[in-house]
Amino acid sequence: MYAESNLLSIFTPEGRQDPFPALAELRRIDPVHHSEALGTHVLTRFADCQEVLTGPAFLVPDRDWCAAALPDRRADPGAEFLYSSLLGTNGADHSRLRGLIAGALGARQVAALRATTEKITEELLDGFADATGSGGAANFQELVGRPLPVALVGALIGVPRAEQGRLEHLGRGAGRLLEPLRSPEDWARADRAVAELREYFATLLRERRACPADDLASALLDQRRTVDPPPTERELADLLLLVFVAGFETTTGLLGTAVHALLTHPDQLDLVRADPGLVPAAVEESLRWDSPVLMTERIAARPVEVAGVAIPRGGSVTAVLAAANRDPERHPEPDTFTVRRPDHRPLSFSAGPHYCPGAALARAEGTALLGQLLHRFPKLTLTGPPVRRAAVALRSFDDLPLATTG
Ligand code: HEM
Repeated sequence: MYAESNLLSIFTPEGRQDPFPALAELRRIDPVHHSEALGTHVLTRFADCQEVLTGPAFLVPDRDWCAAALPDRRADPGAEFLYSSLLGTNGADHSRLRGLIAGALGARQVAALRATTEKITEELLDGFADATGSGGAANFQELVGRPLPVALVGALIGVPRAEQGRLEHLGRGAGRLLEPLRSPEDWARADRAVAELREYFATLLRERRACPADDLASALLDQRRTVDPPPTERELADLLLLVFVAGFETTTGLLGTAVHALLTHPDQLDLVRADPGLVPAAVEESLRWDSPVLMTERIAARPVEVAGVAIPRGGSVTAVLAAANRDPERHPEPDTFTVRRPDHRPLSFSAGPHYCPGAALARAEGTALLGQLLHRFPKLTLTGPPVRRAAVALRSFDDLPLATTG
């Protein structure tokens, strides 16, 4: 009872703000906690999360799971998309789809995007400098934290800049699919968003078929015959949709958190300002300290035990990535934000077959942003309390008020 109320407290406004004390308590009293309310075993230890994500006994919830668990939703666009997308497929089907995008997000492509990353970052920081130049404060997330990842994932996929704002709004609607408790409004918003985004990406693919460009949409069309069976039109559109949505919501979370964490830890900020070589470490520590994706679910493929607790076939477990990153067994003094941590390696990008293929791009964005921001604005300050997104699964600031003139 106490463990359950601890867990459910992370769904309150205060708990969303700072879920870490409740998660630490849950890890202490019941690290493999069966939640009646969420219908899942909640894992808060690093070792258990790692085992479930990488071991063969667990699968992501897929189309069959959806048909059994959410029969009324399975034909709706939101559920149908999520549980047949890359994030909702297992085994051979997953490898087939993943093979199509893995190359497009690899180190070489991220390096090729480096100049674009630096340039877009600089342009957005110009706008932020203009908005704060006369001494006032501006919402950093609105001017930089949100548009930067959208512009980059847009450039990667081939979405023109003029379309990106509209797609971002829709993408936020689709992001509600990842919430552990989805209201009828969440489903309705996600359904509308997915239907419109599917149409957008199907049209983009048709355009690229007629006139290829140097982007992911064209690369997918190019490579489609390299996998067996070849992907359908719907699968290709859904891949673009997933990359788009997965690519910006999460990275916006990282950018806001990294800036906020440094500004609220002045000793760490001083260290990074004195040695810009520490910028990548600051990005890693931000990922560890406040994971942009709080949790992810898996389903037992057969009866299995997690740390001695029996999970039946078809049973759900939830790996709380944010809690795993603060497990004292894995990271000494886990609640301290310290860029000089000898081993950050967070679980924030998950692990195993669904390990985030955009991790290198996200890290490059974080590094470009912090590098330029700290160099350009020596008097950067937080001018008021930030406002968090009203979401549990995706942790992000909606409003981060900053000034640059000190
Ligand atoms: C800080 C930024 C990011 C974080 C924290 C993040 C986190 C994650 C996590 C936790 C997963 C796996 C979920 C699971 O295991 O169930 C994932 C998957 C995925 N991410 Fe990211 N991500 C980020 C940025 C990106 C970017 C920039 C892209 C693309 C440009 C991207 C594309 C994807 C895709 C396509 C998947 C599905 C992979 C699969 O199911 O095989 N992500 N991400």
